Amino acid sequence: SSTRLEAENAVCQGTVDSDHAGYSGTGFCNTTNAVGASVEWTVNAPTAGSYTLGIRHANGTTVNRPMSVTVNGAVVAAAQAFPGTGAWTTWQTVPVTAALQAGTNTVRLSATTALGGPNIDYLETTARPAMAVALE
Ligand code: GCU
Ligand code: CA
Repeated sequence: SSTRLEAENAVCQGTVDSDHAGYSGTGFCNTTNAVGASVEWTVNAPTAGSYTLGIRHANGTTVNRPMSVTVNGAVVAAAQAFPGTGAWTTWQTVPVTAALQAGTNTVRLSATTALGGPNIDYLETTARPAMAVALE
């Protein structure tokens, strides 16, 4: 099973907007167009282990909007790519694999360029199957 955490309920460094259709919940986080613009979620994981962090986003430009991904302050991806999705109303989910601890975790996305991040809709966490992890 998966847990969806809407970006409009996270700490959004920017504005919570709803002017581009197709988002989940009541809106999305329009990150400020600046280096370091961030979205931060508090994620409660039932058990420690490997999770897929699905990041749903839209980027209506043709230019990548990379963001760093950290979990509890540790870098999981220094510059996760968020290429153009074709339109601000076209939402796509990028999967990032990360270890979560049992209980409270802090998942943070932070723009690495002056373009800021894409518009962020939600973070969806899914525990990875034990067999997939075992085969690594
Ligand atoms: C437009 C768009 C915003 C987006 C912004 C950007 O203003 O309406 O939703 O966040 O571009 O370039 O970041
Ligand atoms: Ca923006």
